[in-house]
Amino acid sequence: MTELRRALPRMGAIDVWYFDSKTLSAPDVEKLSRTLGPEERASIDRFRDEALRRRHAVARVMVLSVLGEYLGAPTSAIAFDRSRYGKPFVIAPEAAPTIRFNVSHSDAMTIIAVANGLEVGIDIERIRRDIPVDTIAPSAFTPKELSALSRVSPDDRFPAFFACWTRKEALLKAQGTGLSRSPKEVEVGLGREGESLQTGGWILTALDVASDYAAAVALEGAEIAVDLVPWDPPSSPEA
Ligand SMILES: CC(C)(COP(=O)(O)OP(=O)(O)OC[C@H]1O[C@@H](n2cnc3c(N)ncnc32)[C@H](O)[C@@H]1OP(=O)(O)O)[C@@H](O)C(=O)NCCC(=O)NCCS
Repeated sequence: MTELRRALPRMGAIDVWYFDSKTLSAPDVEKLSRTLGPEERASIDRFRDEALRRRHAVARVMVLSVLGEYLGAPTSAIAFDRSRYGKPFVIAPEAAPTIRFNVSHSDAMTIIAVANGLEVGIDIERIRRDIPVDTIAPSAFTPKELSALSRVSPDDRFPAFFACWTRKEALLKAQGTGLSRSPKEVEVGLGREGESLQTGGWILTALDVASDYAAAVALEGAEIAVDLVPWDPPSSPEA
């Protein structure tokens, strides 16, 4: 049995790892990418856009490195499968069958939630101010959420929109459907700083990981304690 290196969070707690890939130079990214297996590198190379390729390469290395911390396993020993709607889960090594994780990226930020035996979902979005909120919100928000959004001051409109959106997506990712289920079917509200919400066996809360980003995490159960952990890329990655 492989020995766990970093203890998994206790039940009702999660570790949220975060990283801004803008801090890496192009050679750093290339060096990190070389730690990935040929299949993974090929899947990253399919992105034509340089920024997307960079983001996916860093995210891939980060997922393997973070999970390796708990599993006490080399990255080459970690394998995944995906659920019906595409949610990845760990199938090897078998030492820590209770590990649950979920990933989100937006722009240069990647965040990963790790939980113990409880399903978890996470979402991050850069707060863009060039999106047609008036068109998108009615197709994704409930009447109550739309009404709350209409009462928000113009300055807070975009942050409030993304706060609600990330709460919805985190919940749908925790449940495993992602956006194959309409976000309009779940009511999560706009939320307030530090405020968590319990809904149908799930609890969700906003995360403050970086300015200009909205983020939220949802966990199975009625308790959520978040430990934010900055990720350090491996300084001398495995060849
Ligand atoms: C999950 C989903 C909401 C992600 O949207 P997004 O905002 O573009 O992306 P994020 O950065 O927040 O999250 C992406 C990560 O979520 C995870 N993910 C994918 N599907 C997921 C699901 N159904 N539930 C939870 N997490 C999922 C993956 O780790 C993915 O990262 P990867 O593409 O590098 O593997 C969206 O892709 C979706 O709704 N997918 C499911 C529906 C679908 O059509 N599935 C196809 C059948 S396989």
